[in-house]
Amino acid sequence: MKRIMKMLVMGCGILASSIGCSRLSPPPAKEEPAKAKPALDAHAEADKIFLTRCASCHGLDGRGDGPGAANLNPKPRNYHDKTWQKTITDEQIEKTIVYGGAAVGKSPSMAANPDLTTKPEVVAALREYIRKLGKE
Ligand code: HEC
Repeated sequence: MKRIMKMLVMGCGILASSIGCSRLSPPPAKEEPAKAKPALDAHAEADKIFLTRCASCHGLDGRGDGPGAANLNPKPRNYHDKTWQKTITDEQIEKTIVYGGAAVGKSPSMAANPDLTTKPEVVAALREYIRKLGKE
């Protein structure tokens, strides 16, 4: 019985188009649906967000000395602080960015960015940006 099936399948390979046993041949590959391309790539968007939303407090260079930092206590985090970089986890950085300082027991002056909940790739790129500054 097995042999007969095998012959049938082989035969169909050759005759597939003519005698209607094409259902034994593999279905045609499905075409990938075209993915909508984001307007900006995650890193470009993160750079833009840092300049427009974060630098006012954290400073353009991430030293925690932006104009908005003057009256803040505690001061915004200086990303160049090597001890901080060593002790903070990626998850904590990302959580702070999305949910704000109050959510992680830090200063509520560190604002939440709820629009980034749906953009984990941008949050990750912001975290990478912060990590990179810490290496300088
Ligand atoms: C209004 C000023 C302000 C703005 C704007 C701001 N931050 Fe902060 N940020 C702070 C302050 C103040 C702290 C320090 C909180 C503390 O140590 O209690 C902080 C801390 C942090 C920390 C460290 C948290 C920790 O657990 O040590 C990260 C990471 C951070 N901010 C990222 C960002 C990013 C990314 C943006 C922009 C999307 C941003 N911040 C915008 C004020 C600000």
